[in-house]
Amino acid sequence: MAESPQSGMLIEAFDVQLFRENTESALAKLEKHLADLSVRGLELADPEQLTRAARALMTTEHDRPAAFDEARLSEIIDLYIRTGIQVHSPGYMGRQFSGVVPLSGVVDFVSSVVNQPSSFYEAGQLPNVAERIMADELNGFIGFRPGTFTMVTTSGGSLANLTALLAARNRAFPGVWSHGTSDLGAVVRPAVAVGADVHYSVARAAGILGIGEDRVVRLPLDAARRIDVARVRPALDEAERRGLTVFCLVASAGTTSVGAFDPLDELAAVARERGLWLHVDGAHGASLLVSDALRHKLRGIDQVDSLAWDAHKMMFVPAPCTLLFYRDREHSLGAFRQTASYVFDEQPSMYTELDSGAKNFECTKRPMIMTLWVLWAMYGKALFAEKIEYLCRLTQDAHAILEEQTDFETLHRPEANIICFRYRPDWIGDAELAEFQVDIRNRVKQRGLFFISKVDVDGVAALRVVMMNHQVTTDHFHLLLDEIRKAGQAQ
Ligand SMILES: Cc1ncc(COP(=O)(O)O)c(C=O)c1O
Repeated sequence: MAESPQSGMLIEAFDVQLFRENTESALAKLEKHLADLSVRGLELADPEQLTRAARALMTTEHDRPAAFDEARLSEIIDLYIRTGIQVHSPGYMGRQFSGVVPLSGVVDFVSSVVNQPSSFYEAGQLPNVAERIMADELNGFIGFRPGTFTMVTTSGGSLANLTALLAARNRAFPGVWSHGTSDLGAVVRPAVAVGADVHYSVARAAGILGIGEDRVVRLPLDAARRIDVARVRPALDEAERRGLTVFCLVASAGTTSVGAFDPLDELAAVARERGLWLHVDGAHGASLLVSDALRHKLRGIDQVDSLAWDAHKMMFVPAPCTLLFYRDREHSLGAFRQTASYVFDEQPSMYTELDSGAKNFECTKRPMIMTLWVLWAMYGKALFAEKIEYLCRLTQDAHAILEEQTDFETLHRPEANIICFRYRPDWIGDAELAEFQVDIRNRVKQRGLFFISKVDVDGVAALRVVMMNHQVTTDHFHLLLDEIRKAGQAQ
């Protein structure tokens, strides 16, 4: 008979008093980290040096139980915090990762300890119920018909886009799941149509699905970098003439590059007319739905077939937390088809009805909804709306500030919290403009005060600011412009 191992190490690793002490010391560090509102960018470490530092913190004891070393744990946590992207600092303006609402970190911590994977009700009862509640709550802003839509959580927006495209592909070509693309013969060439600024994960999904990146039809954009509806029908006709069978139209609600919102109501009309699945990649911008003032940017969302919504971006919870909505509940079952007696019960019950395992790619899945649901339960939508509205206003203010500067050029009017621009002092010629922006971005990063990103707009590099932190003010933005000037003049 196997006896439970009683080595000192196992006893220590599961000791609840030690657990409390470790938690308290980590908590003290996090409290200090959150309270530090100094303007700072990213301290980018040499990977070799960081590897050496990390290795130096590992026990060399392998044959005997290592004694618990509190100082080592403390150093590991310090190193982790110090080398991270400083999402809570006002110097952080570069990416879409959010400075999470601290309470959501507390919930994530509880999730990690109780470890309730959420693809199956029996493994994570409250997470599954919370998913259903949040689906209803958020659908209040989307407007799908109650009782006929559904929502499933996925590990990130990229996976949500892939999952939705799979469901669309399987609806259009039902035999492909079982028989592969050879089932279509040589004449049918499935294709998807996307806005030219669509996130790369959509083209990647096309590659994974065997559609081929070459069969991604890129729809032209208007001056505001939204899909130009007037040119969609001709582009689809042209694709058809090339022998492509477009089955899905992908629109963006908040493009990654400039945060543009495609005109969903007009695209829904095109999709209906042509029998296309309309998927909306709202990974970035769907969160604007919770704001009464900003919801109109997604007008027509109630008519789309599927919507990917990253709560780990503009709902400020830890990653990943993505919600994939389907207007028609039945379609959610079309993405994957498997039998597996160890998880999928043939006889549905009131418990298995909540299982999402058949609808999401993951088998073991984080109970990611818990962070969002608890914030929602504690604060309601106002917390999110207030923060999102402030960030969008701040970005408008940043645009106005840029317009007043003679040495900067704006590239678009921001629709959300992303703004792209170029530093263009009169001594920089057109030929050097793109490289200059890349150099500036890198130099700003190296100087360590701010973290911004870079993106190509119309094929030319530009600086990109994403406002994710409500601690950032217009004063910080002025400071950033000064920093950019210094970086540019230090050529
Ligand atoms: C518009 C858009 N779609 C999809 C993604 C991918 O989401 P995730 O990083 O959650 O996979 C992003 C991420 O930046 C995005 O901006």
